[in-house]
Amino acid sequence: MTKDNELKHIAIIMDGNGRWATRRGLPRSLGHKKGAEVVKNITRAAAEQGIQYLTLYAFSTENWQRSPEEVSYLMTLLREYLKSDLTELRDNQVRIRFIGERYMLAEDIQQMMCDLEEETADFTKMTLCIALSYGSRQEIISAVKKIAQSVKSGDIPLEDIDINLFSDMLYTKGMPDPDLLIRTSGEKRISNYLLWQLAYSEFEFTDVLWPDFTPEHLHQIIENFKTRERRYGKV
Ligand code: IPE
Ligand code: IPE
Ligand code: MG
Repeated sequence: MTKDNELKHIAIIMDGNGRWATRRGLPRSLGHKKGAEVVKNITRAAAEQGIQYLTLYAFSTENWQRSPEEVSYLMTLLREYLKSDLTELRDNQVRIRFIGERYMLAEDIQQMMCDLEEETADFTKMTLCIALSYGSRQEIISAVKKIAQSVKSGDIPLEDIDINLFSDMLYTKGMPDPDLLIRTSGEKRISNYLLWQLAYSEFEFTDVLWPDFTPEHLHQIIENFKTRERRYGKV
């Protein structure tokens, strides 16, 4: 039996910041602050372990429904992260990409995102993809609209629509599908994350809350992944 356990791409749902804070009698914002520090450590650890693509769920389209105070604090943290941590990663030759409904974000944030993407477009060390204002159903609808438009205008014949063409219309165009999805905090759902791209990914759910997630946890999950048998429908 062949094992295809190459681990190129890890996707993570970084969940549990709020509970981490609440359990300590702290405001949720402090959980997010601690969570942002963990992002930095885990990104570095993934790069050290030779992971080529890391996709992090930082803010979902549904997260816009949280209180204005929480959303505003998250945007403040995001600005800091774009200015310091991501700039440092850029200097370390990491390619940075963003996926999501960007138009919902403030203009200065969109501008910083654009700049980082352009500045790092040719880097090959690792790709860090950040899902921001991201919703997979919205991504799929936007792909469908692009394809429908191209068929309507005659640019794409109907028969040409296939899995590859569809994948190329998604925000993740050009990236391999995740081999492994990790969700922290004990929730066992995918919360509108990469619905198309996770078709054949291995899933790992851990009870550890995101602010408590360490490079050692990541390492252990990667070791577990190596023992899995990926069958893709074959025997
Ligand atoms: C994940 O932590 C971060 C974001 C969704 C922005 P949560 O804020 O969802 O933390 P819990 O799930 O309430 O503990
Ligand atoms: C998913 O976490 C989104 C991010 C981690 C950014 P949520 O905490 O928003 O997901 P639900 O609401 O528990 O499904
Ligand atoms: Mg949550």
